[in-house]
Amino acid sequence: MHIGIIGGGHVGQALALALRRAGHHPTLLLRDLARGGGDAVAPLAPLPGAEAYILATPHEAAEEALAAVEPGTVPVLDATNPLAMGPDGLDLAFGFDDSGAERIARALPGLRLAKVFNTTGADVMADAARFTPRPVMFAAGDDGYARTIAIQLATDIGFEAVDAGPLRAARLLEAHAMLWIDLAMRRGLGRDFAFALRRAGTP
Ligand SMILES: NC(=O)c1ccc[n+]([C@@H]2O[C@H](COP(=O)([O-])OP(=O)(O)OC[C@H]3O[C@@H](n4cnc5c(N)ncnc54)[C@H](OP(=O)(O)O)[C@@H]3O)[C@@H](O)[C@H]2O)c1
Repeated sequence: MHIGIIGGGHVGQALALALRRAGHHPTLLLRDLARGGGDAVAPLAPLPGAEAYILATPHEAAEEALAAVEPGTVPVLDATNPLAMGPDGLDLAFGFDDSGAERIARALPGLRLAKVFNTTGADVMADAARFTPRPVMFAAGDDGYARTIAIQLATDIGFEAVDAGPLRAARLLEAHAMLWIDLAMRRGLGRDFAFALRRAGTP
């Protein structure tokens, strides 16, 4: 698939690497082309032939970045986490009764949006195949096609992809991401770990 990745930071670069390894054709869409190396970069604008976009900017940049890309009917996969400093340090900006993804959907009605690639670290996403068993990746969205693409791409780059249901579940996935961040940054686990889904009776 031809995939426009909006943002060329840790997540954008990790997903570009993994998707290219899986046989896809990612292009990093950058607001400042001088910040991207290599040839698979393009300005922050609609990508001709794009079959999916991945949003890999800070959450607060989502609307501005999507306005520049004009996704139309092309699915958008939201990898962002809405983070803010609270009294106890880094926390979810909107608490547990809302999510960044639902806010994007409310701001941009008609967007074919799915939440995915937000619940583990960029290093894990760069090469999920390093982990045995495969790490889990959840996808949520009200648009069945966007959710299917999210599940397909997560599977392609080495995750056990799990359908987490409607976009409302993004509030669970963003909280799940917060758990990963808390364990990585405050509980000493570092960045090189991932959650896996285990079923009784399987190796
Ligand atoms: N890091 C992780 O392990 C991880 C894992 C899962 C999810 N996430 C989430 O994924 C998102 C990206 O994280 P990251 O670690 O990759 O961040 P990052 O390294 O800071 O990269 C952010 C990227 O977004 C671009 N950007 C910022 N504002 C923009 C705008 N208005 N329009 C277009 N592009 C813009 C930046 O461009 P410039 O270089 O021009 O500033 C940069 O390329 C965040 O929402 C984060 O919460 C992160």
